[in-house]
Amino acid sequence: SNGELRDALGRPLRDLRISVTDRCNFRCRYCMPAEVFGPEYAFLPRQELLTFEEITRLVKLFAAEGVKKVRITGGEPLLRKDLPRLVQMVKGVSGIQDVALTTNASLLAGMARSLREAGLDRVNISLDALDDEIFTRMNGGFSDVRRVLKGIDAAAKAGLSVKVNMVVQKGVNDGEILPMARYFRREGHILRFIEFMDVGNSNGWDLSQVVSKGEILRRIDEEMPLEPVEPGYYGEVANRYRYRGSDREIGVIASVTDAFCSTCTRARLSADGRLYTCLFASEGQDLREPLRDGTDDQGLRDRIRSVWGSRRDRYSEERLSATSLSRRKKVEMSFIGG
Ligand code: GTP
Ligand code: 5AD
Ligand code: SF4
Ligand code: SF4
Repeated sequence: SNGELRDALGRPLRDLRISVTDRCNFRCRYCMPAEVFGPEYAFLPRQELLTFEEITRLVKLFAAEGVKKVRITGGEPLLRKDLPRLVQMVKGVSGIQDVALTTNASLLAGMARSLREAGLDRVNISLDALDDEIFTRMNGGFSDVRRVLKGIDAAAKAGLSVKVNMVVQKGVNDGEILPMARYFRREGHILRFIEFMDVGNSNGWDLSQVVSKGEILRRIDEEMPLEPVEPGYYGEVANRYRYRGSDREIGVIASVTDAFCSTCTRARLSADGRLYTCLFASEGQDLREPLRDGTDDQGLRDRIRSVWGSRRDRYSEERLSATSLSRRKKVEMSFIGG
């Protein structure tokens, strides 16, 4: 062994997904249903959020342990004030090769240029339908389709690479699979279809609402024939496909029917500084206290190494054989940003 950090199942640490806020201006039913995340919901108060300086200190320590990719998420990350400043700080950390953002794009049109100038490489934008009625119903009534498409255009114009994420829910938006595929094929952006997942305990998930990867591919391939593409990086979450005879691609993220835990290299940091080693974890390990009580870098590094070193999470693979697992207590996705 070369001393590289590995978890208890031999997986290296490569990606850090940082949530910068637990708030969102949408109420997607599959993520933050309005009945649960209502006006009374207790979001994190400001002083509990990590500052940009604290986040950047952690990114340096994670980079020393092998992290190369940072993804900024939320909630909705563009609600955090001054986000381009954080992008610039993180992009400047030695060893970090790729800084990406996952966003609903409702606020992106006005910010794309400053994010790009700060060094942001890529954006993954959530959009679940092209039909306004369906999309508005899914996001709780907070945005029309046009506003998101404007965000997408602004990002592309600013020089950011763009992917579009569509969560597919049977009976809700599966009729949009083909219209979305046709549209983004023309636009030249990679569209990724995401199997509806049992994240958190609020979204009422059950297996009957999942449209499988196999079914999604069949429907598209029937009209627009597809061929598989090799993964772009070790442990890529999406399976990639190309429209035959073109360079246009789609992806499918099949965490329900074809779990990818065996190559999962992702750590997640919540906005209040807890380290989660799985999207479906019930608890995170607090890093904020040591950040604020004067613990030195070595002490923090030891903490990170010990958390990752003992990691055994493989939730999606375990769920394949026991869907009842989905009832156990899990962190809400809006808290750790997928
Ligand atoms: P790229 O770097 O562009 O490949 O991004 P990504 O696909 O890793 O990130 P993104 O935030 O766009 O996530 C897309 C979907 O994949 C979301 O629904 C995520 O929740 C899901 N996803 C990402 N990582 C994991 C993971 O480790 N486990 C599971 N089960 N789902 C994940
Ligand atoms: N299942 C699948 N994907 C989800 N996302 C949010 N909640 C779920 C869920 N229950 C997606 C968002 C976004 C990405 C970060 O995660 O739509 O694209
Ligand atoms: Fe907000 Fe994204 Fe969750 Fe929708 S999926 S409520 S946009 S964080
Ligand atoms: Fe990684 Fe957990 Fe997702 Fe499996 S379920 S891929 S271990 S985050």
